[in-house]
Amino acid sequence: MRTPCIAANWKLQKTVAEVEAFIDAFLPLVKDNTTVEIVLAPVFTALHAAGKKLAGSNVGLSSQDVYHEEKGAFTGEVSPSLLMDVGCKYAIVGHSERREYFNETDEFLNKKAKAIQAAGMTVIFCCGEPLSVRESGKTNDLLAGQLDGGLKGLDTNKLILAYEPIWAIGTGVTASPEQAQETHKFIRSHIEKILGADAAASMRIQYGGSVKPGNVKELMACEDVDGALVGGASLEAESFAQIVNFGG
Ligand code: PGA
Repeated sequence: MRTPCIAANWKLQKTVAEVEAFIDAFLPLVKDNTTVEIVLAPVFTALHAAGKKLAGSNVGLSSQDVYHEEKGAFTGEVSPSLLMDVGCKYAIVGHSERREYFNETDEFLNKKAKAIQAAGMTVIFCCGEPLSVRESGKTNDLLAGQLDGGLKGLDTNKLILAYEPIWAIGTGVTASPEQAQETHKFIRSHIEKILGADAAASMRIQYGGSVKPGNVKELMACEDVDGALVGGASLEAESFAQIVNFGG
């Protein structure tokens, strides 16, 4: 049985005070939820405050990115152990916005993912195709390439995948449950090929792209969908609580 993991990706949003207010409102709404692994990913500047508020709760903390070096002359960067220091147990890598705007390659993401795991945290590794690739029927080829390059040498016990079709991110257009299931199934079969049957059976694969309270249930009902990575609909405590409490 795979425990679903549902994570909020707040991107470049929320001040420290807003993050604290969210957590104060959110924790009571989800405190009885024992079936979902719940994660919040604020901006770097709010991680410390969020870590203090979440200590001892059933909600984990994630960064949205990380740098793979531990220390040194890397102006502006943040290392995995510094994230651990403020309470992070997870780090997202490879979000399509990072791939697109910051030219992050699978090779570079693989370095980050290894460094995250070496520090003791869990990687949330994102993959996904643009609309042009889906329309040309090459989605699986592109995903296979992202997984081959990005997941090389990783500890599968500290790894969660997030499948996020780029055409569904922030657009209000969600992949249909059939499209999500078909692609998740392909991802799981590819994981089996590159990382083995045990890893494939236990790997959580989140779906991301316009997940909201109204569609989470049908997506989570898909056999190979084991959680969600949620942007827009995670910004309000009530809305994100409805998503994580999808099971009732
Ligand atoms: P969205 O974003 O839920 O706003 O579509 C998802 C994401 O980018 O992780």
